[in-house]
Amino acid sequence: MVFQPTLFVNETTRSLTISDMYDDQADVTLFRGDRIDLLQQIPDRAAQLIVTSPPYNIGKEYEPRLSLDHYIATQEQTIVQAVRCLSDTGSICWQVGNHVDNGEIVPIDMILYPIFKRLGLKMRNRIIWTFGHGLHTTHRFSGRYETIIWFTKSDDYFFNVDPVRVTQKYPGKKHFKGSKKGEYSGNPLGKNPADVWDIPNVKANHVEKTDHPCQFPIGLIERLILSMTQEGDLVIDPYIGVGSTAVAAYRHKRKAAGAGITSNYLHTARERLILESEGKLKTRPMNQPTHEPDPNTSIVKNPFLESSDDEAD
Ligand SMILES: C[S@@+](CC[C@H](N)C(=O)[O-])C[C@H]1O[C@@H](n2cnc3c(N)ncnc32)[C@H](O)[C@@H]1O
Repeated sequence: MVFQPTLFVNETTRSLTISDMYDDQADVTLFRGDRIDLLQQIPDRAAQLIVTSPPYNIGKEYEPRLSLDHYIATQEQTIVQAVRCLSDTGSICWQVGNHVDNGEIVPIDMILYPIFKRLGLKMRNRIIWTFGHGLHTTHRFSGRYETIIWFTKSDDYFFNVDPVRVTQKYPGKKHFKGSKKGEYSGNPLGKNPADVWDIPNVKANHVEKTDHPCQFPIGLIERLILSMTQEGDLVIDPYIGVGSTAVAAYRHKRKAAGAGITSNYLHTARERLILESEGKLKTRPMNQPTHEPDPNTSIVKNPFLESSDDEAD
């Protein structure tokens, strides 16, 4: 079958081609179906980055609840195919939290790590993604982080931290002795963002919120794409959801391919991409610091403490 990708364009928009089967000429492939059926369409070593957040096997609306062994086997199938599609200089990032069973937590990165190692990959970072909001638990501490495990296929991998540097705490700091005395000591482009990322998760009033219960913040994916790929590279997300990876890839002139089994989410992904091509998609800026509330607002004042005036009396 000859496939005609959809092309969206007018005077103010960037051109955007979306294909529903893998097409290396399309900007984005949004495949409706299982992730293995998409990955099998993609040639060996075609992708520079594979980044995803798979189902956690916790009974969300889009996943059947499987035995843990069965779940691990499905993840292994995805990872094996993903590694086949990955270039020798490429990176693979699995963003995961906990599988929870009867109050017992199973960190998914721990149970998947042996699969990546068996396939000969090397871990480069275990990034802690921390966020302020989530479920309040009563029989354990409330969970406020997930991880991104980053592996490469070889030691000769592409990584450029410059596009994702963040402002130093003291950018005006100078060398105080030696041959560089008096010169600024920090990198003018900012500092390495390190491996703990405080980025609000997409809940409630977040500007990026869609009908999906657990989408990536675009700014989180941008950091991975900008540091691990170059323009024109292919980024694959086997569990594309509402297309956050595709939006970030398209924004930075990379190609993207992803699969989804839920039509509504794919529809939303398509709408977000079209808005992005028109420059109308609202997103939270990549390195925006987290919001600090104004200490003078009544909601910040602790009503259960005596006021300092009273204490002074
Ligand atoms: C944790 S969410 C990923 C959300 C995504 N990162 C985003 O920003 O929208 C997992 C997604 O995997 C999808 N999914 C579940 N089983 C799948 C399968 N076999 N193949 C492809 N996608 C699947 C679900 O519909 C869900 O949207």
